[in-house]
Amino acid sequence: MSENVFPVPPQIAANALVDQAKYEEMYARSVSDPNGFWGEQAGRLDWIKPFTKVKHTSFDPHNVSIKWFEDGELNVSANCVDRHAAATPDKVAIIWEGDDPGDSKKITYAELKDEVSRFANVLKAHGVKKGDRVTLYLPMIPEAAYAMLACARIGAVHSIVFGGFSPDSLGARIEGCASAVVITADEGLRGGRKVPLKANVDAAVAKLPVVTSVLVVRRTGGAVAMTEGRDHYYDVEAAKVSTDCPPLAMNAEDPLFILFTSGSTGQPKGVLHTTGGYLVYASLTHQYVFDYHPGEIYWCTADVGWVTGHSYIVYGPLANGATTLMFEGIPTYPTASRFWDVVDKHQVNIFYTAPTAIRSLMGAGEALVQKTSRKSLRILGSVGEPINPEAWMWYHNVVGEGRCPIVDTWWQTETGGILITPLPGATALKPGSATRPFFGVQPAIVDAEGKILEGATEGNLVITDAWPGMMRTVFGDHERFVQTYFSAYKGMYFTGDGCRRDADGYYWITGRVDDVINVSGHRMGTAEVESALVAHPKVAEAAVVGYPHDLKGQGIYAYVTLMTGEEPTEVLRKELVAWVRKEIGPIASPDLIQFSPGLPKTRSGKIMRRILRKIAEDSFDSLGDTSTLADPTVVDDLIEHRQNRH
Ligand code: PRX
Repeated sequence: MSENVFPVPPQIAANALVDQAKYEEMYARSVSDPNGFWGEQAGRLDWIKPFTKVKHTSFDPHNVSIKWFEDGELNVSANCVDRHAAATPDKVAIIWEGDDPGDSKKITYAELKDEVSRFANVLKAHGVKKGDRVTLYLPMIPEAAYAMLACARIGAVHSIVFGGFSPDSLGARIEGCASAVVITADEGLRGGRKVPLKANVDAAVAKLPVVTSVLVVRRTGGAVAMTEGRDHYYDVEAAKVSTDCPPLAMNAEDPLFILFTSGSTGQPKGVLHTTGGYLVYASLTHQYVFDYHPGEIYWCTADVGWVTGHSYIVYGPLANGATTLMFEGIPTYPTASRFWDVVDKHQVNIFYTAPTAIRSLMGAGEALVQKTSRKSLRILGSVGEPINPEAWMWYHNVVGEGRCPIVDTWWQTETGGILITPLPGATALKPGSATRPFFGVQPAIVDAEGKILEGATEGNLVITDAWPGMMRTVFGDHERFVQTYFSAYKGMYFTGDGCRRDADGYYWITGRVDDVINVSGHRMGTAEVESALVAHPKVAEAAVVGYPHDLKGQGIYAYVTLMTGEEPTEVLRKELVAWVRKEIGPIASPDLIQFSPGLPKTRSGKIMRRILRKIAEDSFDSLGDTSTLADPTVVDDLIEHRQNRH
C-alpha cells in the first residue's frame, strides 16, 4: 500500500466549504451533540410540519430501532424539485447524455416539476397510493428520475431493479415487495446494443398475478408485445393527465424506497430507506464530500439501479438544487475517450466513478485521455470497491493532471450515503485510503470477539452509533435486519468489511469478510451464484468465491461438482456460464469454473470456503488449519487442478 500523502491543493483550499479545522470542529460536535448538529442540518430541507425530536435510535439487538425527526413531515419531491422550480425555474436540473454522442438534452427545474407531476398523476390513474410499492426496470433515461420522484411525490415506495438483471431476478424482486405496477422501457440502449427490457418484464411477470399494470416508456421505438389491459405506453397515459399534482405530506419515517441487495444467503434483501433522515444525509454528504458550489456541473456515472444512483445522481444533487448529469451509455462507446469527451462537452466540474471503470480506461492508454481538455474538472470521486494505488495515481495524474483531489468514498446500500471519505478542502489524501469518517459517523475496528481495537490496527469495521441516512429495516423481515447487522457484535452495526486504521487515524477498507463479493463494483452474494449453478440439471454441488481480478477487482470463481456420469467438458463449462447469465444476469457470469470431483468439507459436511478462497488466490502455502477436513486429499486434488490451469 502506498503511504504517499497528497496535501489539499491551495486552489481547492482557497474556496472549499470546509478546511481541516472546520472539519474537526464539525465532526466533534456531530458526535458529542447529535441532536443539536442534525437538528440544525435538517434545516437544509423544507419541512411541511417541523419536527420536535431529532435522534431516537437503538442498536440494542433486543430492540433495534432507528428513527430520526420522527414527528416531522416533508415531501422528498417537493424538496428536490418544487422549491428549486420556484426559486430557479430555468436552472438545468438534469443534463441527459444519451448512448449515442449526438443525443443529449437538458431539463430545467421548471420542466422537471411538470414531468414529475405528470408521472405522478399517471401512477395515481393506475391505482398507486401511499405506501404501495412500484418496481422500476429502466434504462438511464430522464424518465427514471421522473418516476422515482413521482413515487416520492405521492408516497409510493420505489424499488429499482438494475437493467442487467435477468427476468428471474427481476421477478423475485417484484414479488419480494409485491409491486402491482412495473415501469419499464421498450428497450434500453448501451454501447450501441439494445437491451430487451420489456421482453424481460414479460418473462418476469408471466407468473406474477400481483402485477396489474406495466407502464412502457418508449426509448428505441422497437416493437414489443403489449398485453391488453395490463401494458400501457407511458406517453399515451401521460397525454391523459395534467401536470398538476400537489406533493403529499409524508412522515419523516415513511418509507421512500426499497433496494434489493445481495448478502450471505441466496435471497437478496430489500433494504428499506425512509424519508427525512435519508434526504438530510444524502443532501449534506453530496454538498460537503464533493464540495459542491452552486452552478457547478456534477456527474456521477453510476446507474440508478444501484444505491449510488439513488443518492448521488438523483436525491442528493437535486435536493441541493444542483445540475446532475445522467449518462445512458458505457465508458468505452464509441471510444474509450467517451467519459472525457462528455466532461468537455458539458463542462463537468465534479466527476464520480468506480475503480473498475478507471482500471479499464487505464488499460486503453493515456492518449485517449490526453486528446481531451478536462480543464473544467475540479474534484474526482471513487466508489464501490477499494481503489488500488496504481489506479488512484493514474486517475490523479492523467485524468486530473495532478490538480483535482480524489474523494475515495466508502459506503454501502445499507448506509444510504457516504460514511468514510475525504473532504476536498480538509483532508490530505493517501492513495487507496477512504481516510476519515463523515460528520456523525463513528467507525470502530473490532476483533473476531467484538473487542474494540484502538490506535493503528486491523480487523472488522463496525459503526457504533446511528446516522440519519442508514437503512431502517429489511422490508418485511425486521428479524433478518437485526440478525444480519446487529448480532455479530452486540450494540454495533456490522458492515461486513475488513479494515485497517493507520497511525494517522486513516481508514483503509480491505474488502468483504463475509460471503459477498464485489465484481466490477457490483455486489454479489456467492450463495446466489451457487444456487443458480446447482439449479442446472448436471450440477451436483457448487461453491463460489471471489479471487483477485485485474480489471474487475474481484472475479467469480466457481468450484463445480458434476452429477455422477457427467463429463467435465469445455462445452459444459460454456453452458454453465450461459446458464448463470440467464438465471441471474450478465453481471454474475463466472470468470473461472473449476470442475472438482470433491469439495473440502468438515466432518459435519460444511464446505470450508476459506480454503477455496486461498486456492482461488493461488495462496497454496497459507491454507491454514486443514485438520478438520473430512478428506484432506480433496485439497491436494483442487490445488493440482488449479495449477494445471496456468
Ligand atoms: O465492500 C465495500 C465496497 O462495496 C460494498 C458495498 O456495496 P454496495 O452496497 O453495492 O454499495 C456500493 C456503493 C456504495 C462495501 O461493503 N465499497 C464501497 N465503496 C468502497 C468500497 N470498498 C472500498 N472502498 C470504497 N470506497
